[in-house]
Parts: sequence; C-alpha cells; structure tokens
Amino acid sequence: MAKKGFTVTDHRSGKSYDYPTVESSRGPKGVDFRSFYKDTGCFSYDPGFTSTASCKSSITFIDGEKGELRYRGTPIEKLATEHSYLETCFLLRVGRLPSEEELNHYDLELRHRSFIHEGLRNLFDAFPQEAHPMSTLSSAVAALSSFYYEHLEMNTEEEYREMARRIVAKMPTLAAFAYRYSKGIPFIYPDIERSFTENFLYMMRAYPGGKMHIDPEGERLIKPIEVKALDTIFTLHADHEQNASTTVVRSVASTGAHPYVAISAGISALWGRAHGGANESVIEQLKMIGSVENVDAFIAKAKDPDDPFRLMGFGHRVYKNFDPRAKILKSLQDQLKEELDMDNNLMRIAARIEEIALSDDYFVSRKLYPNIDFYSGVILTALGIPRSMFTPIFVIGRTIGWVTQWIEFKKDAEQKIVRPRQIYVGP
Ligand code: ACO
Repeated sequence: MAKKGFTVTDHRSGKSYDYPTVESSRGPKGVDFRSFYKDTGCFSYDPGFTSTASCKSSITFIDGEKGELRYRGTPIEKLATEHSYLETCFLLRVGRLPSEEELNHYDLELRHRSFIHEGLRNLFDAFPQEAHPMSTLSSAVAALSSFYYEHLEMNTEEEYREMARRIVAKMPTLAAFAYRYSKGIPFIYPDIERSFTENFLYMMRAYPGGKMHIDPEGERLIKPIEVKALDTIFTLHADHEQNASTTVVRSVASTGAHPYVAISAGISALWGRAHGGANESVIEQLKMIGSVENVDAFIAKAKDPDDPFRLMGFGHRVYKNFDPRAKILKSLQDQLKEELDMDNNLMRIAARIEEIALSDDYFVSRKLYPNIDFYSGVILTALGIPRSMFTPIFVIGRTIGWVTQWIEFKKDAEQKIVRPRQIYVGP
C-alpha cells in the first residue's frame, strides 16, 4: 500500500524518515514535522514562516491564489454586503451568525461595556501630546490588564466571553481617547444610545457635552452612509488568519501572559508599515506624489532594485491574484463618490497607479496587486478621519480576530510555548 505522508532522506547517513500529513478541510494539507529535529538532529529553516503552519484553526480561511476570504466558512463578500460588523464579531466568536434576539443582546452587552475605568483616563496624561495614537493605544490596552487582572486565569466559557466582550467594546473608546488626547481636546464618553460604529464616529467628532456640529441645513452630523462605510471597513479587517500581528498575539498567549497584553503586543506589531501601518503610508505617498503627472517617476522608483522605495498598498504575502477586501473597498469607494466629499485628486492619482501596476510586467510577474490598505485610506479620508487614526481603526476591526484567535490557542491542547530555534553562524 502506498504511504500517505512524506519521506525525508538524510543523504549523510542514508536513513529515511516518514512524516504524516495533517488533514485540512480546505486548502493545503500540512506535514507533521514535529519529530524532525529528534529524528535528524537538524532544524527546518523557514524565515518569515512562508511554508510553515503554526496551528490548526477553524476561524478564517484564505485562498491566496483564488483571492478568497471566509470567516467561519462565510465569504467575506456576503458579510460585507449583507451583514453588520457586530454580526461578523458574533460569527467569529461563536461560529455562526446570530439570531435577531442574540444580536440585540450582544449589541447591548457591548454598549454597556464601552466605558473605561476613570483611573485609566489618567494614563493618557503621561503621554506627550504629539504621541502617535497607536503608541498611546497599545499602552492603554496593556494597562487595561491591570483593571481586569482576573482574566489572567479563565476556566469557564462565561469567563472567556466576558474577557472578549470587554476588549471589543472598549477598543473604540480607547482609540477615540488616544486621538482626542493627541489633539488636546476633551474626551467624549460613549453614548449608550448609539450603535457600535456610530458611537465611534460620535466619540471622534462630538463637541464637549456631547453636542454635534450642525450643518447649515440643520442636518445631523453622522450620516448613515458614513456609518455603513466604516462598519464595512471594520468587517473587512475583522480577522485574517495567521498574519504577523495575530502570530504575535498567539506567541504572547503561549507564555501564559494576560490576554490584553497579548493584544497590546498585536497592536504594536500591526503598527509597522509592512503590515497595518501601510494604510497611513498609502495616503502619505499619494500626497507626496501630488499629481497624476508624477506617477510614472514613482512607479520607476518602486521598480528600481537599488531603491528601497516600495509602492505602499501593493503586494501581499498570501494574496497572489487579488485581495478580495480591496475589491469590496474599491466598489465601496465608487458608491461613496456620489454621496461624500471625496478627494478627487487623490483618487485620480490612486487610479493611475492602479492602472499602471495592473499592466506593468514588474508588478504582474511578481503578482503585486492593490491590497486592502490601498483603498481604505481614501475612504477614511472622505469620512473625515485623520491619517494618524487609520491604523487605530484597523485595530478596532481586528480586535475580535485577535481575541478569538487567543481563545482558540488557549483551548488547543497541541499548542506549546512558541520557541523557534536558529541556525547558529556566529563565532
Ligand atoms: N512595491 C514594489 N515592489 C514590491 C512591493 C511593493 N509594494 N512589494 C513587493 N515588491 C517586490 C519586492 O521588491 C520583491 O522583488 P524581487 O523579487 O525583485 O526582490 C518581490 O516583490 C517580493 O517581495 P517580498 O518582500 O519578498 O514579498 P513578501 O510577501 O515578503 O511581502 C509585503 C509582502 C510586506 C506586503 C510587501 O509586498 C510590501 O512591503 N508591500 C508594501 C506594504 C504594504 O502595502 N503592506 C500592507 C500589506 S496588507 C496588510 O498587512 C493588511
């Protein structure tokens, strides 16, 4: 009978070793190399883990060749167009979409947990005003662990649920506070009568006392289309399997640290420009390019092997066809064009870059397509969100993914402390 797994031959000793496959329900199977070092005395070498699966997971599935993304089996296109962010959060945590009653209950639970301890407010005063909201946010989330120390040890489902609800509910408040502190303007407390996404826009925009600016026609200031657009952005960012920041969250989880410090570490990892920080850099870059006439020169810089310049918002480790989240955002951008005040110059520059990159051999042969960050910045700008808040918005959306992955890690009996090895080449 043919063997099912893989056989590795060590040509030094002439010995062969068998490694079993690890079955998957979709996408590539794995090979169980856990005994490889014991068998051969060698380490597998895989910088950046391009060929390494660190866990089994049933949360999110990506097919990078087909440009497919599913949360708990549901395609992202369906979630982004037919469901809300809170329904998506429930789906990620519980494994199925909620009933209307469950959704209402979940929504209320989050509203009630959106406030932060008054003691935590004081933390913000310790920061210089020019501090980037990402640094304040990562510190505030780490500090949250001292207010909910009980989450260090959790044994029941209810304890996991409470820990997850708290962090999801408080993240928009902490993010909005981080922003308002950076501007030197008073904090706005959550308004329990507003939905999750509307409440975040309210905490960003309201005047002291919770008053909203009124436009000349006396119109209310948070338009439903703006709430819908931001809600979709949160949904598209909710999880993305074992990306860099999630891997950091799981690594910290493996040491037995508090879940909120693991999420704080995830926030720090997300900040980098190769990851979530790219959304801020895309707009910086579009502004630096300045006009459509300058696009060709920047494309030439991006292609120059001697120039470290990279086109921000292009390329992805996993998507080698297109990023399905980018497609959804592009069509959202087209809808918003009609309804919101979009920066036409930025959109023209972005459209020209996209046009060149999708036909130029450098980008085509390397399978570099626009990623989610290429479009999110233009939309967030139209919603009046300042650039420094683009990555914190990514954080708000991704918190549900991090916390769900943290819980999955904790319940996985096969997991151990994350402790890779090295190939020593020093003296
Ligand atoms: N502009 C120009 N060239 C690029 C770009 C880019 N944005 N991205 C990759 N390349 C080139 C590299 O120079 C390399 O070329 P070479 O083979 O001639 O040396 C080739 O494409 C492969 O690049 P790698 O860095 O090996 O690809 P990797 O999968 O490791 O990196 C990454 C993926 C980090 C996203 C990269 O494409 C990048 O830096 N993009 C810009 C930043 C960005 O948009 N990040 C957001 C990602 S999405 C997210 O995190 C939510």
